[in-house]
Amino acid sequence: MKEIIIATKNAGKAREFKSFFSAYHINAISLSELDEELGDIEETGTTFRENAAIKAETIAGMMKQPVLADDSGLMIDALNGRPGVFSARYAGQPKDDQANIDKVLQELKGIEAPEERTARFVCVLAVAIPGEPTIFVEGTCEGTIAFSQAGENGFGYDPVFTPDSYNKTMAQLSPSEKNDISHRKNAIVQLKDWLVNRMN
Ligand code: IMP
Repeated sequence: MKEIIIATKNAGKAREFKSFFSAYHINAISLSELDEELGDIEETGTTFRENAAIKAETIAGMMKQPVLADDSGLMIDALNGRPGVFSARYAGQPKDDQANIDKVLQELKGIEAPEERTARFVCVLAVAIPGEPTIFVEGTCEGTIAFSQAGENGFGYDPVFTPDSYNKTMAQLSPSEKNDISHRKNAIVQLKDWLVNRMN
């Protein structure tokens, strides 16, 4: 089985990538599974693309092999696109998913019409290969912010995100239902040709 390093220590993301890549018979290895202590990479970019590139290129430079990085987040229209690139630590340090959810629900208080609570998850993937230009793809998943949280699956903002055409939150979907419609899936399918040509 072929391997690709996934530049994340986020257990939720790692689980989803492992599931996607297994369909291509590729073993996705997250940073937490590597023996090397790579330390934390500062995400100093102002866009998903810049941050994905920083993560993928830094680790590929260290490991001398192909690395895929994901930078993702939630963009809420009524908040002018926030939390956006600041999604992970929107309520401050240290990263706290529940505090982030509380902050978003608080900020949307008083906005009653679902059509004014539109939002999307965005995922930019960067694949860095030593000596080659970095490849980028982007996927989105459209939905609305629920009035209260529900569900235990997934991670991050899933309990308050209702995907379009569903009447339950992303956290109430099974892992495979989420993986069928997610921003990460919509990005990764665009890498299919690259995966087939380069990894097999
Ligand atoms: P990153 O590690 O800087 O890309 O931060 C991504 C953050 O965006 C996560 O910590 C979550 O708060 C949020 N996020 C990204 N993808 C998802 C998802 O699939 N569900 C829920 N929240 C997500």
